[in-house]
This record gives sequence, C-alpha cells and structure tokens, in this order.
Amino acid sequence: MATKHSRISASVAIQAKGLRKSYGEQQVLKGVDFTLEQGSILALLGPNGAGKTTTIRILSTLLKPDEGSASVNGFDVVKKSAQVRASIGLTGQFAAVDDYMTGRENILMIGQLYHLPAEDLPERTRDLLEQFDLVDAADRPARTYSGGMKRRLDLAMSLVASPAILFLDEPTTGLDPRSRLALWHMIKELARGGTTILLTTQYMEEAEYLADNVIVIDHGQVIAEGTVSELKAQAGAERVEVTLKRAKDLHVVRKLAGAEASSDEETLMVTAPARKGAESLYELLGKLNTAKIPLESAALRRPTLDDVFLALTGHATEEEAAKEAKHA
Ligand SMILES: Nc1ncnc2c1ncn2[C@@H]1O[C@H](COP(=O)(O)OP(=O)(O)OP(=O)(O)O)[C@@H](O)[C@H]1O
Ligand SMILES: [Mg+2]
Repeated sequence: MATKHSRISASVAIQAKGLRKSYGEQQVLKGVDFTLEQGSILALLGPNGAGKTTTIRILSTLLKPDEGSASVNGFDVVKKSAQVRASIGLTGQFAAVDDYMTGRENILMIGQLYHLPAEDLPERTRDLLEQFDLVDAADRPARTYSGGMKRRLDLAMSLVASPAILFLDEPTTGLDPRSRLALWHMIKELARGGTTILLTTQYMEEAEYLADNVIVIDHGQVIAEGTVSELKAQAGAERVEVTLKRAKDLHVVRKLAGAEASSDEETLMVTAPARKGAESLYELLGKLNTAKIPLESAALRRPTLDDVFLALTGHATEEEAAKEAKHA
C-alpha cells in the first residue's frame, strides 16, 4: 500500500523520500514521497511533464536526485546503485529494442549484459518469447515488428534477469486496445507471481485496471494518493449526464445545466456535477422539459478517474484535452 509515513520494513519494495530535481531553473520534482509494498502495483498518474519519467529515472539509478533519498529493494539508489540495478527491470517510455537484431538476439544480448549463466540463456530466452507471444517473430529483425510487438519484446527484455521490481514507463502508450489489454494481462500475471511493479501512465483506465494504489503527480508534486476507489470518493459528487437528440440544443442545455457543466459536440452529451444526487437530475430534466428539449438519454453517473483528475489538477487528461481541442 502506498502511504506517506510508513517506515521501511521487510515488505517495503520502494521508498521515496522528499525527492527533488531541477533542470537549470526549472524544478521538475518538488519533494516526492511514496512507499510501495512488495508484490503490489503502483501507478504514477500525471499529465505530460509532471515528472513521472524523472521519478522513474531516479529510482532506477539513471539520474541522481538533487535532494531527498530513495531505496529500492532495501538499497539506497545513490549509495548502492549496483545492487539496485541488480534488483530491477526497466521498460522505458521509448522502447530499448535494437531494430537490427532479431527478437531472440535482443533478449540474449540483455542476458549477456546481466552475466546470466550462458547455458541457461537459450532456455530463458525461449520462455520469454513464448510468454510474450513472440515465438513466430523471434528470428526476424525487430524493425519488422509492429508497435505492440516491440513493446512486448521490450517488456520481455526487462524481465530476462527475473527482477524483483519492475519499472514500466508508459508501457502501453500507442498500442491499440487489444494489444493494450494483452499487455495488461501480462503485467497482472507478473504481479501475481510476486513482482513489484511501478508504472507510469496517462491512461485512467490503465491505472484503474492494474494498480492497487495510485499516486497522482502534477508539476513535480504528489497531489493525491490512494486506491482508485478512494480517489474517486475524493472527487466527490456524482454527475448528471444527458445526451441530446439535436446538436443545436447543446448550447442552451449547457447553460441550463449550470456554470460547471461541460459538453461534447461529438456525442451531444452534457454533464454537470450532481450535488444533490438524483434530485439534481430531476431538476435538470424539469428545466429541459419546460424548454421542450428532446433527449436521447439521461443518467446519474458515478465519478470516473477522469473526473478525479480534472478535479485535482484543474485540467483534463491528455486524452480529454485532445478531444476538446479537436472540437473547439
Ligand atoms: N534532461 C532534461 N533536461 C531538461 N529538462 C528536462 C530533462 N528531462 C526532463 N525535463 C523536464 O522535466 C519535466 C518533467 O519531465 P518528465 O519527463 O519527468 O515528465 P513526464 O511526467 O514523464 O511527462 P510525459 O508524460 O510527457 O512523459 C518536463 O518539463 C521536462 O521538460
Ligand atoms: Mg515520461
């Protein structure tokens, strides 16, 4: 479980305390604290530039913090960096696959880098190729792989040395929904086998599906943490959601729904906080009825992680922002 104040104990896999990092004048981490227990999955959720990759780079010893400290698998990331590196696997935001080598060669190469016993390597490689559904493509150069295959290969490479702790920086960005789901299953499977996983994501549903705990980070600071349902509870009220029959009603309905309402031109949906629960829906429907506005559907909706994010950061997630920009 991610808590701010727990002490180091045998079951703590990662602890970050007051991590700070600046690039020139720009402070990109302003004191990041969290704890991650062995065998659990923690998602670092945040918009572009929030400091997710910087945090991962510090924890994986690729970057030194300016201030603060962190331990991974019980080892200090600065003073015991070699031991930390021996405990972790890392899949970066941009795949570390060598395009000119085959999938098999990529995995073998990592095994050699980790000095795994040469006699074990071929079998370990075969197992990983199988586990990540890459057997058919194993002897093709990786440059012929699709994005999803490359991601899977990248993940397989980070697992060669059977690390206790795995860092996944945006593991499914750019994947189609089916490949994403397949990768999610693989990640869950790893956690079930006891691997501790710290992942970053911009996708709410990814955090929701995978993470035992979520840390929301924005502008280099942890702004919320808890389980998905705890965060949703923080986002508070339910929302009313009406879908219109006619695009021309959008503007007036948005007005009737109040200052905090938002609308989507594509789906013709208007939503607003339902501070009084069902009563709020009833009120809005009364107004729409009086204005003789035909509806496709109306509902009361529980908050999603997207709502949480919006409530916490004051801005939508990148996906939402992109949608809104498209329709502006
Ligand atoms: N090597 C660097 N030199 C200068 N600035 C950097 C460097 N690396 C990161 N930054 C800046 O630090 C901030 C945090 O970057 P970081 O990569 O940690 O964000 P992120 O949360 O991973 O974002 P994204 O979702 O886009 O991957 C950004 O403003 C970025 O421009
Ligand atoms: Mg990043």
